[in-house]
Amino acid sequence: MTTAKPRDSIRFLLNGQQVDLRDVAPDETLLDFLRLRRSLRGTKEGCAEGDCGACTVLVGRLTAAGLVYEGVNACIRFLGSLDATHVVTVEHLKGTDGRLHPVQQAMVDFHGSQCGFCTPGFVMSLYALWMETPAPSDQRIEKALQGNLCRCTGYEPIVKAARAIASYGSPDADPLRAERESVAQKLKELCDGRRIEIGEGGRRLTVPASVDDFAKHYAANPNATVVAGSTDVGLWVTKFMREISPVIFVGGLGELKTISESRGNVTIGAGVSYSEAFDFLSERIPQLGQLIDRIGGEQVRNMGTIGGNIANGSPIGDMPPPLIALGSTLVLRKGNKRRRVPLETFFVAYGKQDREPGEFVESVEIPLPPADAKFAVYKISKRRDEDITTTLGAFHVTLTGDGSVATARIAYGGMAATPKRASAVEAALIGKPWTEATVDAALDAYEKDFTPLSDMRASAAYRMLAGRNLLRRFYLESSGHPVVTVARNAA
Ligand SMILES: Cc1cc2nc3c(=O)[nH]c(=O)nc-3n(C[C@H](O)[C@H](O)[C@H](O)COP(=O)(O)OP(=O)(O)OC[C@H]3O[C@@H](n4cnc5c(N)ncnc54)[C@H](O)[C@@H]3O)c2cc1C
Ligand code: FES
Ligand code: FES
Repeated sequence: MTTAKPRDSIRFLLNGQQVDLRDVAPDETLLDFLRLRRSLRGTKEGCAEGDCGACTVLVGRLTAAGLVYEGVNACIRFLGSLDATHVVTVEHLKGTDGRLHPVQQAMVDFHGSQCGFCTPGFVMSLYALWMETPAPSDQRIEKALQGNLCRCTGYEPIVKAARAIASYGSPDADPLRAERESVAQKLKELCDGRRIEIGEGGRRLTVPASVDDFAKHYAANPNATVVAGSTDVGLWVTKFMREISPVIFVGGLGELKTISESRGNVTIGAGVSYSEAFDFLSERIPQLGQLIDRIGGEQVRNMGTIGGNIANGSPIGDMPPPLIALGSTLVLRKGNKRRRVPLETFFVAYGKQDREPGEFVESVEIPLPPADAKFAVYKISKRRDEDITTTLGAFHVTLTGDGSVATARIAYGGMAATPKRASAVEAALIGKPWTEATVDAALDAYEKDFTPLSDMRASAAYRMLAGRNLLRRFYLESSGHPVVTVARNAA
């Protein structure tokens, strides 16, 4: 643990300059800082809730794999979380000899620049894509643009521009590549291993120096708000005007970002973002990779963490149901004490989790499903991309040698006040032959397990019907019957 005196400033690189800030409010967003304090108004405010991508900037940070740049939503990213990073805004883009940058030129030539609000955000998302994958597939382009909404629906020219960028220039000549080593060196120098403390009393922000430092500080200050990726907490500020200070920013703690595998278990640190977990999980549990692709847009996945999705206790968070179905265990820590709880018992009631004041989520342990297990996750939402779940079902079934159900773990989101197992449905399946007749007979048990609510996303009746139909779908798909799902527009 560090004994050095805390630092009272946030230091980062902004485009080509170093910024040292002592006056940082715990709830000040990067977007407000850029526009109001630096007059960098190329970065726009559209929705202020992480949905539209008009505020997209790149944030570069040092990782075990080197310097990585990711698109993020400046509207819900807090300034206090940016220590030792490189913030790149649209103003930083330039081509050689005073010409436009390849991304900008492609957007101009293909008429992708349709309105002043969305275009800078599209440019920044395409910039991140081009640096990572200069010649992307259409599927990759669509994924990169999931988090950028064009209200005039003019995606076609933007996609055409994206396909063409590589012919305008190579990312190797781009300053972010060419100057990578010197930027990485500067960021290393900014990482001095000291805790950051800014402000007094209630208006205080802390960036712990390490996980041990965080554990000690949070145990002593249990009323503080822990902020990881801020994709939930950001909205508490921008939409609900909630007071969140004092704040502890943990998004930069490398020790919470570890992923490992041992004896059939995968352990994901609470600070691992969706993007960081994607390759690892997709390789081992592809269904989770497919689900991650439907969480927010790229910017939200770059910021949002699996730990935050669990800790927020939302009944419609996407990760808890499949992790419960897989039999995951949560590692909670307070000070130096750790305890392990089955994830399914963590969610006690709406807004209430099995977490003591000053205790935090350190990691989640996920057992890999056996090779012959049947496992599926289905997310129902109004839009395919970047939409919150209406109902989500996760199914994990193993069979005996004679084709009967040996074990069944089924969990839902959006059907109750918490993510919840369908215990009565499971009981109706276990020991029975895995047949359509068994599944049909089990459907009545849904009434015992769930009493869903009606809200703006769906009626209770819709949720119940959809929830039951997901079990049918799981049975059919896992028994080799292809299921055709038809998207219909509401009349
Ligand atoms: C545009 C948009 C789209 C979204 N789409 C989806 C979606 O499709 N599916 C979905 O499930 N969610 C979605 N979300 C919600 C959000 O992205 C996720 O819940 C995300 O995983 C939250 O993680 P975070 O790191 O950003 O959490 P934060 O906002 O930093 O924190 C969330 C909560 O968890 C607490 N917390 C965070 N880390 C810890 C920890 N280690 N220990 C204890 N407490 C902790 C915080 O105090 C806070 O209460 C979306 C959000 C946005 C803005
Ligand atoms: S302003 Fe819409 S995502 Fe930030
Ligand atoms: S580009 Fe802004 S609305 Fe379409």
